[in-house]
Amino acid sequence: MTVLVTGGAGFIGSAFVRQALKDLPEARIVILDALTYAGNLSTLENELKNPRVQFYPGKIQDPTVVEGILKAEGVTHLVNFAAESHNDRAMLEVGSFIQTDVYGVYTLLEAARKFKLERLLHVSTDEVYGSIDTGHFTEASPIEPNTPYSASKAGGELQIRAAIKAHGTPALITRGGNTYGPYHFPEKLIPFFIVRLIDGKKVPVYGDGSQVREWIHCDDHAGGILHVLQHGQIGEAYNVGDKNERTNMEVVKILLEETGRDQNFIKSIPDPRRGAHDKRYSMTTDKLEALGWKPKKPFEESLRETVRWYKSNESWWRPLVQTEDYQRFIRAFYGPALGEDL
Ligand SMILES: NC(=O)c1ccc[n+]([C@@H]2O[C@H](COP(=O)([O-])OP(=O)(O)OC[C@H]3O[C@@H](n4cnc5c(N)ncnc54)[C@H](O)[C@@H]3O)[C@@H](O)[C@H]2O)c1
Repeated sequence: MTVLVTGGAGFIGSAFVRQALKDLPEARIVILDALTYAGNLSTLENELKNPRVQFYPGKIQDPTVVEGILKAEGVTHLVNFAAESHNDRAMLEVGSFIQTDVYGVYTLLEAARKFKLERLLHVSTDEVYGSIDTGHFTEASPIEPNTPYSASKAGGELQIRAAIKAHGTPALITRGGNTYGPYHFPEKLIPFFIVRLIDGKKVPVYGDGSQVREWIHCDDHAGGILHVLQHGQIGEAYNVGDKNERTNMEVVKILLEETGRDQNFIKSIPDPRRGAHDKRYSMTTDKLEALGWKPKKPFEESLRETVRWYKSNESWWRPLVQTEDYQRFIRAFYGPALGEDL
């Protein structure tokens, strides 16, 4: 088994590489990653020393690169994590999302067909379902994305669905919940807030923080994906979640406690996503549980452990928040609302 992990230098992709090296002792792991601002080889420092791992820089939307790797490495399985993945960045610019999350998926599908891969697993998100006030999304729920990011992920998924139907491509989809844990680029709520609180800066909470998210640890998300790769039924989609719903404010309170900050570090700002900000995500995971898999990490304890990881791994994240690209994004997105608290 030779598994190509695209986007393997990112947050969940790198957790998957670690998990796959442990659980698939015979497998070779090939990583293709464009090393965008969100991709980081220092995340894979130990894994890259393993003789079973091979890294290639490059974009999934480049057929020459993708096909060259499939041929040279004899790839049998492909797991696609590569994506532009930040909702807020997609509010400012969505072209790069469509390039990677839609056109990139098409390129992988074409290559998978040409090289007759055994399995292609596409990593998607519960955000493709849109928002739900009560009850839970199942895999049969309609795809109704509300944000430019989730619409790009839905576009990629629909290409997968069509390839399964039209060409019999042996593909599967996972739709994961909001994910937290170590090695998370410090721009999404949890890592962004942690590094700001460590630095004694206020955290910008959209509105009253009553939006509900379902959180899953990156090791559990990666574990669920690996389980679906091995045991899922081709042509099917699987929700990967932890049924662990929290309001944003509940999460922020734990972060304040664990960093030793108080309520004065919260700054409520107008919601910059406007009507596109989904109120609640919630999904059932019965289909994945029926395959014999359940998440293991308890939320509150693992979130506190994540804060402690950021406290003791400044050398990983400090250089990331000092880049011009990062500073520019934070200024553009939060500057007007945060003002002197930026
Ligand atoms: N983070 C979450 O909460 C979450 C939840 C559900 C689903 N997902 C999905 O899981 C996947 C991984 O998310 P993540 O949080 O690890 O993202 P991430 O932004 O941390 O990592 C994405 C990785 O893809 C790479 N990449 C980007 N464009 C590329 C391209 N064109 N070609 C090759 N590589 C490219 C980046 O360099 C980076 O290493 C994404 O598909 C995302 O949509 C994420």
